[in-house]
Amino acid sequence: MTEYLVKDVTSNTSGITRPMFVQEITKIGEGAFGTVLQANLKNALSEPNSPQDVWIGPFAIKKVPAQTEYKSRELQILKQTNHPNIVALKYYYNYPNKDDNNRVYQHLAMECLPCNLQSEIKRYYMNKSFLPESHIRVYTFQIARAMNYLHSFQICHRDIKPSNILINPETLLLKICDFGSAKVLEPNQPSVSYICSRYYRAPELIVGCCIYTTKIDIWGLGCVMGEMYMGKPVFQGQEPMLQLREITKLLGPPSEKFIYTANPQYNGPMYSHKIYSSTAETRFQKVFNNADADAVDLLMQVLVYSPTERYGPSQIMAHKFFNEIKSINFTVQSRASTTPLKIDNLLFNFSDYELRTFGSLINDILPRS
Ligand SMILES: Nc1ncnc2c1ncn2[C@@H]1O[C@H](COP(=O)(O)OP(=O)(O)OP(=O)(O)O)[C@@H](O)[C@H]1O
Ligand SMILES: [Mg+2]
Repeated sequence: MTEYLVKDVTSNTSGITRPMFVQEITKIGEGAFGTVLQANLKNALSEPNSPQDVWIGPFAIKKVPAQTEYKSRELQILKQTNHPNIVALKYYYNYPNKDDNNRVYQHLAMECLPCNLQSEIKRYYMNKSFLPESHIRVYTFQIARAMNYLHSFQICHRDIKPSNILINPETLLLKICDFGSAKVLEPNQPSVSYICSRYYRAPELIVGCCIYTTKIDIWGLGCVMGEMYMGKPVFQGQEPMLQLREITKLLGPPSEKFIYTANPQYNGPMYSHKIYSSTAETRFQKVFNNADADAVDLLMQVLVYSPTERYGPSQIMAHKFFNEIKSINFTVQSRASTTPLKIDNLLFNFSDYELRTFGSLINDILPRS
């Protein structure tokens, strides 16, 4: 356990900057650019033994090198967002990292959740089982809700995958994290296509589309939902170009129009040769054989080549797959609970802003009374 004093720690809620003690407890994550530690914080100006003189936390502190060529919009985006299904930033500061020649690192102290969806999926898979379907409904709904909020500001996460989705398995609360790749997409402005982890990359990114939309996150949602049913990634391409081939095995070959719209200069493999004679619906049913018919129907609206035809977040939230969780009597058993939980407050505590984004779909999104 290490403790240190930081001169300038800014509170994201009040905007006030003051000195604080940081007490690092343990490492909870390791990423491409830095580490995530569990830590407590304490106001360094509090009177000894006063009510303020206590450690608060735990927080998850993410450390990434500050001021590099790697242009992270993470801090900027986390400052802007305020939503129950998006990890909340509490404090932030710059501080030298002694493990890296005292190079200055940006520290983001976020609320800490006990688990991520990747370890949850693995946990069931190791026990030769899958997440209960009610959990899949509850988690997928919250991912769609987070995306509905983000996409309403044109914020595209660009790295949706189970390890970037935090959960509390006791309450079934879910929060999207890791905004290290996120970007506000301006209409018709190009962005790099080499983002997103391979298994979760939308087909338009694979063929090199530069003017993409927030629908790339929706593809990721479909991959994550499918993975909860399968226990492993739906499309596991062994190398970047083989990723498209994995997708064609389920969806069938992409149309020329799709390729041309995504990237007129694309000259890679088209996989236009049909591998199976069965329909896409039969293949979806076979691959997701433990999913109910509504789940398969939703997956077929989300794992769609054409980004414009792919469902948006509010359409997903309105889908009949979620009828069960919108029922007034819905309860769910978590791994930890002995009695069934009522979680309507967690799923439907919509802000006025959110309610306005639903438009004409509102009655299909709200719980049934
Ligand atoms: N707020 C948090 N609460 C609990 N755990 C967290 C939190 N934030 C991050 N983690 C854990 O740390 C891991 C890495 O965090 P994050 O994805 O933000 O970092 P990263 O460096 O961008 O990772 P990668 O490059 O692997 O995507 C996450 O997968 C998660 O398990
Ligand atoms: Mg990550």
